[in-house]
Amino acid sequence: MRLNGIEVGDYTSTFREVALRFHTPSFVFDVDCFRSRLRNFRQLVRAKFDAKGISTSVSYAAKAFLCTELVGILADEGLNIDCCSLLEAKTALRGSMRGGQIGLHGNNKSDAELKLALENDFHAVFIDSLDEIVRVEDIAKALDKTANIILRLTTGVHAGGHEFISTAHEDQKFGLSVSSTSGADSVALQAVEQVLACEHLKLQGVHSHIGSQIASPDGFLASAEKLLEFRLHVKSRFGVLLETLDLGGGFGIQYLDTDPELDLTQLFESLQGLISEHSKANQLPLPSLVFEPGRWVIGPCMFMVYTVGTIKDVEYSAGMFRRYVSVDGGMADNIRPMLYGAKYSCYALTFEPSDDTTACRVVGKHCESGDILIDDVQLPKSLKRNDLLVIPSVGAYSYSMSSNYNMLPKPAVIALENGRVREMIKRQDESEIIR
Ligand SMILES: Cc1ncc(COP(=O)(O)O)c(C=O)c1O
Repeated sequence: MRLNGIEVGDYTSTFREVALRFHTPSFVFDVDCFRSRLRNFRQLVRAKFDAKGISTSVSYAAKAFLCTELVGILADEGLNIDCCSLLEAKTALRGSMRGGQIGLHGNNKSDAELKLALENDFHAVFIDSLDEIVRVEDIAKALDKTANIILRLTTGVHAGGHEFISTAHEDQKFGLSVSSTSGADSVALQAVEQVLACEHLKLQGVHSHIGSQIASPDGFLASAEKLLEFRLHVKSRFGVLLETLDLGGGFGIQYLDTDPELDLTQLFESLQGLISEHSKANQLPLPSLVFEPGRWVIGPCMFMVYTVGTIKDVEYSAGMFRRYVSVDGGMADNIRPMLYGAKYSCYALTFEPSDDTTACRVVGKHCESGDILIDDVQLPKSLKRNDLLVIPSVGAYSYSMSSNYNMLPKPAVIALENGRVREMIKRQDESEIIR
C-alpha cells in the first residue's frame, strides 16, 4: 500500500516491534519522514516565492499534533508555529520557540491567552471579532506593548468538503466577513478602521484559512484573490499598506490510494503568478506571505497500530453477511471518521498471510454503534484475534483530538528515528485517569 509517496509495507517490522515492546494501540511517528516533509514544504515555498521576490514564512498549525519534542524539530527546520490555546502556546514556548515565532489564533481567546501573547511578543495576534480589538488594545496598553495584528477574514470561499472542516464560508464562527449586504462597511473594513485607531496595535496584514484536506488549487486561488482585493481596497480607502497575506493551511493528503494528491508545485506557481500580476497591475509592493500547513506535513508520517480482537460475521440482509473486525482502540484515539465522515484505509499484519479477502467493517471497542473506523474494506479472510491492523496517515487531528471516552488511556506515541524506536509520548497512566 502506497500513500503520499510512502510504502506502508516498509514499516512492517517496526509495527511488530512496537506492538511487542510498547503494546497497542500505539501511534508510530516516523520523525525522519516528518523532517523531510517540513524541509520539502519549506524549500518549495522558497523556490516558488522567495526566489521571485515574495518573502515567506511557514507556521506549523499546532492543533494537528503537538508535543514539546515536535516543537524542537520545527525550530530546527526553520518553521514558526500557530497556536490556538494557552497550553498549545505554552508548549511551543517550553519546546524552545521564541515568542516572535508564535502566532495566536482562536475565535474565543481568553485574557490569559492574549496576555501570554503580548508578554512574549508573539509575531501576530489573529483578530477574529470586533470586540477582541478592544480587549487586545487594553491588554497591550496595560503591558505597554505594541501588538502585531493580522485580521482573520471570512472570504466566502467554500472548500474542504465537509462543513466542519470548511472555515471561510459565511454563517460560521470564524473570522470577519469581507462582504456586506446592507451597503454599510463590511465587518472586515470596520475592523481595519478600529485597529488603525488603536495606539497599541500595528496592523500587519490579513489572513484566510478556507478549510482542510483540500485537493484542488481553485479554492486557494479564489481566497488569495479576495485577500489581494481587500489589500487594494484598504490601501485606497485608508492609505495603509497591508504587508502580510497569511494564506492559511488546508493542503490535502492521501488517506486512500484513490485520493488525488494535491500538486503543491502547481498551486504555488499559480499563486505566485496571481500575486505578482495583481501587485504589478495595481502598483503595490509585493506582500510577504505566510503558510500554515498542519495535515500536509504531519499527517502521512504517523500510523496507528491496533491489535485485532473480536471478529464476527453479522447478517445485514437475507443471506448477506458483513465481517465486523474489532480493534483495541477506536473513536477515543481517532474521532475523525465519526466527526466528519473521514475515510481511511488499513493494512493487516496477519500470522497466516492470504490473498483471499472479504468485505469487513473495522470498529473500535467503545460503547457506541457509530464507533466505526473504516466502513467497508477488504481484509484477508485469514485475519484473526491478535493480528495487527495498521491505519496509515493518522498524524493530523487523531492524537490531538483524542479523548478518554470509556476511560481508555490515550495511546503511546512511538518515535521511529534513524531506524530505532523509542517512546515519544507515554501511554496515559491508569492512575492518572482514575484520579
Ligand atoms: C487557522 C488555521 N490554520 C491552519 C490550519 C491547518 O490546516 P491543515 O491541517 O488542513 O493544513 C487550521 C486547521 O484547522 C486552521 O484553523
